[in-house]
Amino acid sequence: IHNIVFSNSNIGSVCVAKEIANLIIEKQNNNQLCILGLATGSSPIKIYEELVRMHKEEGLSFENVVTFNLDEYYPMDKKSVHSYYYFMHQHLFNHIDINPNNINIPCGTIPLDELHQYCIDYDLKIKEYGGLDFQLLGIGRTGHIGFNEPGSHYNSGTRSITLDHVTREDAAPSFLGIDNVPKKAITMGIGTVKKAKRILLLAWGHNKASIVKETIEGEITSEVPATYLQEHPNTTFILNDEASQELT
Ligand code: F6R
Repeated sequence: IHNIVFSNSNIGSVCVAKEIANLIIEKQNNNQLCILGLATGSSPIKIYEELVRMHKEEGLSFENVVTFNLDEYYPMDKKSVHSYYYFMHQHLFNHIDINPNNINIPCGTIPLDELHQYCIDYDLKIKEYGGLDFQLLGIGRTGHIGFNEPGSHYNSGTRSITLDHVTREDAAPSFLGIDNVPKKAITMGIGTVKKAKRILLLAWGHNKASIVKETIEGEITSEVPATYLQEHPNTTFILNDEASQELT
């Protein structure tokens, strides 16, 4: 794992958006689709803002882009303001020229008896596109990437998981209380994420400093699923000063 430390998250976000834009343009020049794995949460918001700006002011087109989001709460209605479907449209998809058919977000209302096959098909679809060219990640205080909580297998595929209590606590304010936070989610697996050709993980702020240290300097363990990224040949952690302050 390489890491790059920025003095603040705005500068880091602009830099990440540039890398994504360059990849999209490179694929356009080769008449290829660009397959992006995307994240939600607070960490990527400024990146999406910058990509929208590049679309509006610099003509960056997303016509050749196919996206796969990491996760969605379960159960969760698309129309809910808490859904990751809502988040992605609010912050990115409503403001760019992506073909709506190219947007893939795990469906939070898939019937329980179809869920297992649905997850297998999600991974299959990624594979049929030739895999993810790029995966954007945040990191939870449990060391989750996507919603791969402690205990996740390094080879896991997309599946339904039970959210860790810490994760539900962190989500509680936006849900106006922990009782309103779903207990489950659908998440891409560690195996799914690790097949991406390029991975950028974002961590901003003090409250990520100790998990960032464990992830980069600790032993690889299922107790901190993000440590599996140590085995990935092309991962960079994008940090700000605060998130990097416990690194040796
Ligand atoms: C979101 C996701 C999560 C978040 C993580 C950090 O799609 O997969 O792993 O990236 O919980 O969330 P923030 O960025 O809100 O600190």
